Amino acid sequence: MPEKIDYDSKIPNNVSLADDRRLQRALEGWQPKFMNWWSEMGPTLETHGVYLRTAVSVGRDGWAHFDHVNVPDYRWGIFLAERDPGRTIAFGEHKGEPAWQQVPGEYRADLQRLIVIQGDTEPASVEQQKLLGLTAPSLYDLRNLFQVNVEEGRHLWAMVYLLHAYFGREGREEAEALLHRNSGSPDAPRILGAFNEETADWLAFFMFTYFTDRDGKYQLGTLKESAFDPLSRTCEFMLKEEAHHMFVGTTGIDRVVQRSAELIREHDTMDIGAHGGIPLEIIQRYLNFHYSVSLDLFGSETSTNAANYYTAGLKGRWLEPRRQDDHRLTDDSAQLARPRDDGTWETAELQKIVLLNLDLRGEYIADCETGVKRWNKILDEAGISFRFALPHPGFNRYVGINSGHHITPDGTIVDEQTWRRGRKHWLPSTEDLAFVRSLMRPVYERGKIASWVAPPRQGINGKPFDYEYVYL
Ligand SMILES: [Fe+2]
Ligand SMILES: [Fe+2]
Repeated sequence: MPEKIDYDSKIPNNVSLADDRRLQRALEGWQPKFMNWWSEMGPTLETHGVYLRTAVSVGRDGWAHFDHVNVPDYRWGIFLAERDPGRTIAFGEHKGEPAWQQVPGEYRADLQRLIVIQGDTEPASVEQQKLLGLTAPSLYDLRNLFQVNVEEGRHLWAMVYLLHAYFGREGREEAEALLHRNSGSPDAPRILGAFNEETADWLAFFMFTYFTDRDGKYQLGTLKESAFDPLSRTCEFMLKEEAHHMFVGTTGIDRVVQRSAELIREHDTMDIGAHGGIPLEIIQRYLNFHYSVSLDLFGSETSTNAANYYTAGLKGRWLEPRRQDDHRLTDDSAQLARPRDDGTWETAELQKIVLLNLDLRGEYIADCETGVKRWNKILDEAGISFRFALPHPGFNRYVGINSGHHITPDGTIVDEQTWRRGRKHWLPSTEDLAFVRSLMRPVYERGKIASWVAPPRQGINGKPFDYEYVYL
């Protein structure tokens, strides 16, 4: 019964680490390197206790414990969801066979690669958000930032555990490399583009947790279906933590829009910059940017790698068991809209199995639409006619069939000149970024909040907004 977490050992875990001395020693050797990385690349702001949740059990109820914790003393550990002994593979050519408890030799390299790519994103976001603690709009927000950061650190642990436990010497080398690469580093950057972008201000942080963390949710969802059971169980528990990151993004943007709407009403102008609010056009341009770089994370629309991973059982579809088909996809087809050099769109019919990245992206886009609806409802209720929208999936893309084309937010293929002229209306300009940055001043008094964002409706774990979430 592995559900209870052992907090007595150096590395908290529910994988009976104490029974495998070699593995335990190897991970205890990695631990100080992680702590070094955290102190160099983690949050810059020094605190004397943050009201954080820590996992106490991976079961359905009451898995979290809340208390003020000195951040470097946070108990990062290894937590896998409970094992289902009867679990079978849900898709691909091994469909119906028992899930794997070890890595089959023929899939070793591919599985290792998938784990490394996922693992690389986790510490990257901590690095990207390193400076945000210096300008938090409230103690409540500051606490949420730290919560997201420590959990991304734990997600790194989750992947490093798999590398150490199942991939031998190569796995241990990859675990070192995860600490060696850094976001934005010219010599050793993070693997994926979006994770080398700076998260320079809190609007960007809310957009990142809404759009980019949400990509993470969908990637984890496909790995949760994996035939490799330890990976599946790891991702299942990570998804529980990830839900809070989504919450930070969704409600963060809610509150920015709410505040902007209040200022528009109060001053009867859309031009609320002078009143300490963020104009809706700037919010839309941030949205366009973060959404489009997040779409790049889904990879090329057509992918034989993704098809091979699916057939092998390494990576499934979002909510695979709920799909109404044969879960092998050898005979199914699907459609793909692609830009042509003459500036028109064509629709191609392709095998469904080579369009799995597109399938996942489609699920993600539908989810993103729910956010846009929420924010538009806030505007509607304030009697403001402005509406947010997701740009066309071809807009501002550097990966896949749309890269190399200039596509406007409404999906028109244009020439380079038109693109250059339109760019400042579609993506955050230098002035936008400088303006938003000018609003970023820390507000660390209990119960107080910055001018550009509304307070949350509720605090954390039933505590009020004016609770002392962080001791400074
Ligand atoms: Fe994560
Ligand atoms: Fe996350």
